[in-house]
Amino acid sequence: MSDPSLPTNSVLSSGIRTFKPRRSRITPSQRNGLIYGGENLLTFTNRSLRSTYLWPELKSPLFIDIGFGNGVSSIALAEANPEYSFLAIDVHTPGVGNLLGEIHTRGLKNIRVMETDSIAVLEHMIAPDSISGIYTLFPDPWPKSRHHKRRIVQPAIMNLFNSRLVPQGFWHIATDWQDYADCITGLFEQPNYAPRWSGGIVNRPDRPITHYERRAIQDGRTVTDFRFVRCE
Ligand SMILES: C[S@@+](CC[C@H](N)C(=O)[O-])C[C@H]1O[C@@H](n2cnc3c(N)ncnc32)[C@H](O)[C@@H]1O
Repeated sequence: MSDPSLPTNSVLSSGIRTFKPRRSRITPSQRNGLIYGGENLLTFTNRSLRSTYLWPELKSPLFIDIGFGNGVSSIALAEANPEYSFLAIDVHTPGVGNLLGEIHTRGLKNIRVMETDSIAVLEHMIAPDSISGIYTLFPDPWPKSRHHKRRIVQPAIMNLFNSRLVPQGFWHIATDWQDYADCITGLFEQPNYAPRWSGGIVNRPDRPITHYERRAIQDGRTVTDFRFVRCE
């Protein structure tokens, strides 16, 4: 499970990752995206995103889409909000190629992509109190109890994200797994975390239907959207 080419973090126990290793074939158009859209791909460093030459045009507010899949939602967000900056992070190379290709084709200037573990990025490259919103749409559900330590919504990551958000910044989560939704509700109600967050279940915002959401609807599963806001 542990990939030595990916940066580590001190948030999760050693060897714990929130994603599944996947070796999928890459299509010619995704490969072209990697080649021609590469100027929008940022590399992991231990330095702050804002303090380096990495992204000179970076504007505030900054939003992060964690686990963007094929990037459909990231594109919609960036296109609808040209005055904001978006960082999209995933570890899945075909999706990275797809998103880079779309950014290149549409000429978007306000979005950058990283192909790495977002937990390390949030810990090492994002300064405290600096991001306005985090999207985690349809995170891997890790349904088995022994795998819950791999879920992205868990105490250590809630604390990390809380520290990186500006006061009143939000974490938007959507899941189609009822058990995961129940766990999320329970976690944010715990006395340890409740004082630092407000919010809960919200109506589905206007966003494109992704492959995961479409499959959930076809299978008759309920989709739950949450929006939690960092308290002052
Ligand atoms: C079930 S998919 C959902 C994709 C997309 N958000 C959607 O709605 O279609 C979850 C994605 O999260 C990514 N992921 C999980 N943990 C991650 C992490 N720590 N950093 C970056 N990506 C991660 C996986 O690679 C996968 O592409």
